[in-house]
Amino acid sequence: MRIAVIGLGYIGLPTAVALATRGIDVAGVDISVDIVEQVRCGEVPAVEPDLAVAIRGAVGIGRLTAHTETPEADAYILAVPTPFQSDRTADLGFIQAACKGIATQLRGGETIILESTSPPGTTKQISQWLAEDRPDLVFPHQTEGAPDIHIAHCPERVLPGRIMIEIVTNDRVVGGITQACAEKAAEIYRIFCQGEIILTDAESAEMAKLVENGFRDVNIAYANELSLICEHLGLDVWEVIKMANRHPRVNILQPGPGVGGHCIAVDPWFIVEAAPELARLIRTAREVNGRKPAHVAEQIIAKSARFMNPPSRAWGLLSKQTWTTCARAQRSTSSGQWRWRCRPSRSTSWNHTFASFRADWPNCRTSDLPGAPRRSRKPISSPCSSTTTVFAPSTRPSSSARWSTTPAACGVESATRKPATRIHRVIL
Ligand SMILES: NC(=O)c1ccc[n+]([C@@H]2O[C@H](COP(=O)([O-])OP(=O)(O)OC[C@H]3O[C@@H](n4cnc5c(N)ncnc54)[C@H](O)[C@@H]3O)[C@@H](O)[C@H]2O)c1
Repeated sequence: MRIAVIGLGYIGLPTAVALATRGIDVAGVDISVDIVEQVRCGEVPAVEPDLAVAIRGAVGIGRLTAHTETPEADAYILAVPTPFQSDRTADLGFIQAACKGIATQLRGGETIILESTSPPGTTKQISQWLAEDRPDLVFPHQTEGAPDIHIAHCPERVLPGRIMIEIVTNDRVVGGITQACAEKAAEIYRIFCQGEIILTDAESAEMAKLVENGFRDVNIAYANELSLICEHLGLDVWEVIKMANRHPRVNILQPGPGVGGHCIAVDPWFIVEAAPELARLIRTAREVNGRKPAHVAEQIIAKSARFMNPPSRAWGLLSKQTWTTCARAQRSTSSGQWRWRCRPSRSTSWNHTFASFRADWPNCRTSDLPGAPRRSRKPISSPCSSTTTVFAPSTRPSSSARWSTTPAACGVESATRKPATRIHRVIL
């Protein structure tokens, strides 16, 4: 069996490696020549524990190859980005482009699996796109009998930093356009997945993934909103939450500077897109969390004001869970306006993070955002998770460390999210 994994990013590459190290011939495909070259050399384009050894092993035994064009295969796994557009609807352009590459290679008998997080209906949309390009083949949305091609969705829910473990141990939801599609896709996951494989229909699988992240977003929004309310009332939110959590059935999360990861800030919008009139709580949660980085940044500026007369720059590290954004606020000498420079630490998530950051932080202007170099990658969850720190001028990091994603290199002391004062601590 030969499997082509389309998109060698944070999800696609570990998936390709997991299959290859279990003896499957895997063709990794990416539009990035840089990534393809790195994988061919057995190098790691992403920082992820155990991935380097696994890639070298898979390439070394000849099971994993890398390509810029989609080759013939028995199964295709799509793990390309699904950012949102300026109106916060899903941008399915990467999926559509990947389907174009697959369509020309189909002979009949292949299984296609969408792993990208997508709005309900996307898997069926893939079937329709492919049918347009290949009218000679029968696709699952066209027949109640046996199609030539089986298509399913299997969302990914790994935690960066633990991907190589969770990709094997997590349960998987596999949703087929038909039952047969789900069963065909499940056969592939049984190769490397030790978790339970739950079969369902494609839309339910798509929705299950969005609902997971929506759940996180709503719960984080509750904590973040509490922090704003307590600040307004002059109360210590950490103490309030600690006391409330003494209730045996209450477990309020800790507030932070927004939400982390590039999924939680994006995926709930796909639910809003699917049911805009009904998803009121989900929309509000997204808005509450989306406003939090700006609120924290404003506090950074206020706190840093005494070090800068007139204030010119504030350095901050807005970090949570899976990605870190180094943000720089600079007051324009001409307009007196604060401008934000921020760089997600992981280039391939640039569109995701940039889109969500821009949408959630309207003062962040496109022209202020430097291009994200390909080799800059998502770090392992950093110990400064959820810490926002302002650098005083004397402790400002060197220019080479400016955009570093590690707290040490940034000059940020490690601090865990504990007392409220730590969120905005100024290093003297
Ligand atoms: N990263 C996570 O933690 C995570 C977790 C769960 C789900 N997801 C979802 O998985 C999907 C992929 O995410 P990711 O983090 O791996 O993205 P990524 O940006 O790290 O990688 C995507 C890769 O796809 C490549 N690509 C884009 N268009 C292509 C095309 N037409 N053909 C071949 N390659 C193409 C890009 O060059 C990039 O290397 C997204 O839908 C994301 O929401 C991600």
